[in-house]
Amino acid sequence: MAAVSESPVYRATTTAPVNIAVIKYWGKRDATLNLPTNSSLSVTLSQRSLRTLTTASCSANYPAADELTLNGKSQDIQSSKRTLACLASLRAHRQELENADSSLPKLSTLPLRIVSENNFPTAAGLASSAAGFAALVRAVADLYKLPQSPTELSRIARQGSGSACRSLMGGYVAWRAGELADGSDSLAEEVASQGHWPEMRALILVVSAEKKDVPSTTGMQTTVATSELFATRANAVVPARMTAIETAIQNRDFPTFAEITMRDSNGFHATCLDSWPPIFYMNDVSRAAVRLVHDINNAAGRTVCGYTFDAGPNAVIYYLEKDSEVVAGTFRSILGTELEGWSGPFYDAVKNVGPGVSLDQVDSRAVDVLKTGLSRVILTGVGEGPVSVEDHLVGEKGEILSTQ
Ligand code: ADP
Ligand code: DP6
Repeated sequence: MAAVSESPVYRATTTAPVNIAVIKYWGKRDATLNLPTNSSLSVTLSQRSLRTLTTASCSANYPAADELTLNGKSQDIQSSKRTLACLASLRAHRQELENADSSLPKLSTLPLRIVSENNFPTAAGLASSAAGFAALVRAVADLYKLPQSPTELSRIARQGSGSACRSLMGGYVAWRAGELADGSDSLAEEVASQGHWPEMRALILVVSAEKKDVPSTTGMQTTVATSELFATRANAVVPARMTAIETAIQNRDFPTFAEITMRDSNGFHATCLDSWPPIFYMNDVSRAAVRLVHDINNAAGRTVCGYTFDAGPNAVIYYLEKDSEVVAGTFRSILGTELEGWSGPFYDAVKNVGPGVSLDQVDSRAVDVLKTGLSRVILTGVGEGPVSVEDHLVGEKGEILSTQ
């Protein structure tokens, strides 16, 4: 705990959301600046289900080196080039303000104490790095009272983790790859607000933990260096899909949105399999989820749901609230209510519904594999971007507080 002292403690606290891409970022054209080979697009998920809470504070009372405490544990940020790069950019922006207005307190010269909590498992394939770096950048930007827009801040968050740049905004967010060597045009922007298409829901099937996957940073570098499919994906397939899915979002055209989402996930995992040595993120449980989504769509006679998989086996299944019965109701009947996660703010629409399609229309082997392979589900939906809050994780005297 920090000692009580006379010097002021400055604080700002924010929440930030997780995002799950429907057009995947996979591949870097510049690993140092963390610039992608292709544009990507994601849905920001509701912070009523998954969120990071981060307080950034600074004070002359603090030890000289910046500190980060994550979920109650002190992190070694001095060896995290990515965190240091984000903090250096934010400080430089604060310094510009201080240079222009000498009446401002010299916050850029003070050590930082950052305290963060994720309300979901960290490093478990649930995009904690995206929410975590977005929250860190937003909180320090608020502490420094920076005038930069979320799009301008996305340039900084990108250096922490590429996908984090998309968590600075709510709704439907594109990360434009950009072309410039310095990365100044590689930015995220909201393509549609949460309110434009608020009915989007996501059912996350969390696969029981297995051995650690190939980290995404390493995996994408192997793919760029060795996959022959990759160049076609980056240069031709993804640009066409970006245009098509943005149109589908503008038109609230779910069948097109879902088909592009599924095809892009499959295409991304195909480039992983085409890497040398091959990289496998999906497993038998993931493939059972794929089979069941196609079976449900066939049984419904229209596209009511679409899956996507990141660099791990968990399935994220998008659907519209009006199809809660046919999608979530069917999965709940298959999986049973004993499985953890059939609860929370998005459960009301699902609580009293049965299986929307007859279970004899879905593959029984896939049902068996899925039933035994999941640790929990998370029911959520599209949500808003970071929110400034007063639930500080650092007290008025600089002491670390906890909500856990
Ligand atoms: P995930 O699949 O959850 O994104 P990763 O292994 O890719 O897992 O990223 C986890 C890393 O992200 C953590 O080790 C930490 O460096 C960073 N991270 C996660 N949450 C936070 C947070 N709240 N604040 C700062 N950094 C975070
Ligand atoms: C499969 O953003 O974790 O989730 O920039 O190296 O930190 P780094 O990679 P990261 O990669 C995310 C990959 C993905 C696809 C996506 O979110 O677009």
